[in-house]
Amino acid sequence: MKEIHFAKIKDTSGGGQRTAQIAVKPQKLQEIAYQEKSRIQTEYQELNNVLGGGIVRGSATLIAGDPGVGKSTLLLQLALSLSSTSKVLYISGEESVDQVKMRAVRIAETTNVAKTKKYNQQENDNLFLLALTDADAIVEQIIDMKPDLVIVDSIQTIESQNVSGLSGSVAQVRYAALQFIRTAKQYNIPIVIVGHVTKEGMVAGPMVLSHMVDTVLFLEGEKFAKTRILRSLKNRFGPVDEVGIFLMEENGMQEATNPEQLFVTQGGENVPGSVLVATLEGSRAFLVELQALAVTTRLPMPRRVVSGVDGRRVELLLAVLQKHCQLPLDTMDIFVNVAGGMKLTDPGIDLGICLAVYSSFKNIAVSKIVGIAEVGLLGELRAVTGLEKRVKEAEKLGFKNTITARKYKTLREVLSKIKN
Ligand code: TYD
Ligand code: MG
Repeated sequence: MKEIHFAKIKDTSGGGQRTAQIAVKPQKLQEIAYQEKSRIQTEYQELNNVLGGGIVRGSATLIAGDPGVGKSTLLLQLALSLSSTSKVLYISGEESVDQVKMRAVRIAETTNVAKTKKYNQQENDNLFLLALTDADAIVEQIIDMKPDLVIVDSIQTIESQNVSGLSGSVAQVRYAALQFIRTAKQYNIPIVIVGHVTKEGMVAGPMVLSHMVDTVLFLEGEKFAKTRILRSLKNRFGPVDEVGIFLMEENGMQEATNPEQLFVTQGGENVPGSVLVATLEGSRAFLVELQALAVTTRLPMPRRVVSGVDGRRVELLLAVLQKHCQLPLDTMDIFVNVAGGMKLTDPGIDLGICLAVYSSFKNIAVSKIVGIAEVGLLGELRAVTGLEKRVKEAEKLGFKNTITARKYKTLREVLSKIKN
C-alpha cells in the first residue's frame, strides 16, 4: 500500500472519513515552466492550417466522417509522408495489413507523396502497420514502440475484455479512447483516432469522444463529388471553423491548390439560372456557383427540389420573391443546386438563391453577378459578416459586379436593375 500518497482528512460535516490525494499541490502560475508544445508539420498545408499549424505532440485528434468519405485514405497518406522522417504506427481494425499495403502502394505510385517523398520499400521503412482491435494490446504496443505518431482506424472496431459490450458501444469506445489518450499524453505521442458517423448525425461513439480529445476534425463530402472539406469543430491548440479543401482523386486525396476557383464551373457563363455567391467558410471566402431551374408545372403542389442548401430556406426565399417581387412562383417547379457538391449554410447566399431563381424564371443570364446579402422576410437586404473579404475574393477572380446590402436596400430594387 502506498500510504504516503494519501492523507486522511477529517470530515467535519459528520459524514465519516474521506481519502484525498495530496501528491499534487497547487502551483503558482508564475512558477510553471511553460513550453510551447512543438508541432509536427505535415506535408499537407491544408491539414496544417486546419490543425492550427501542424500536429501538436501529445495531442489527441478525432477525425470523424461518413464511411467512405476518405478518412483512411487521408491518414494513410499522412502516415506515408511522415514516415520518411518519423516513426508512424498505423493501427487498422477494419482492414488487413495486406489491404492497407495495397492502398499505400496505389497512393504512393501516383501522388505527390510518391514524387516528393519517393515512397519505396527502402525509404519508407518507418511506417508500421498493425491489424489489431484489442485496446489493451494496442496500448502495450504503443508503449513498447514509442512511435512519433499513432493512427487508430477506427475507434468503433476497438474493444477490450475489461469492458462489457460490443465494439462500437459507448462503453467500449470510451474505454479505448481513454487508454489511448492517456498513453499519448504520458509519452508525448500524438494520436489520431478515426470515428465513423452515420448520415443521421453523430452516433454515440464520436459524440462521447469529442469531449475527450483535444481536436475534432470533420471530413465531409458528397458521394459523387470529388470535393472533400476538412473542418475543425473543436481545437484546444488552434482556431475552430477553419477548413481545408481536398479532392478525392483516383490516386488518393489531393490538396486543392486553388480552392477559390474550385466551385466555379467553367463554361456555364451566360446561361440563365446560374449565379455566383461569395460564401464564408471559417475565415476563408469562396466563390461558389448556384444553379436554379424554374419551370411551369401542372402539379397542384409544385415541386421544390434542393441540394446543397437548406430546403426550408429556399421555400422562404421563394415566398419572399412571390410576395414582394410579384413572381408567380406557385405555378412553377423550382430546382436549386450548388455546383461542386458543396453544402452551404451561410445566410449570405440568400440573395444568390433569389437571383438564380429570378434569372431562370426570366430567362436572363446573370452569371457575372456575385450576390452577397441575407434576405429578410420583408424582402430587405441585410449585411453579412466578412463582407470585405467576400467582395475582395470576387474581385480577385475578376468579378467586379457584386451586389451587397450596401448598394441596395431591397430585393425588389436589385431585380428591377437586372431587368434593364
Ligand atoms: P476511405 O479512405 O476508405 O474512406 P473511410 O476511411 O472514410 O471510410 O475511402 C474510400 C473511398 O474512397 C472509396 O469509395 C474509394 C475512394 N478512393 C478513391 O477515390 N481514390 C483513392 O485513391 C482511394 C484510396 C479511395
Ligand atoms: Mg476507413
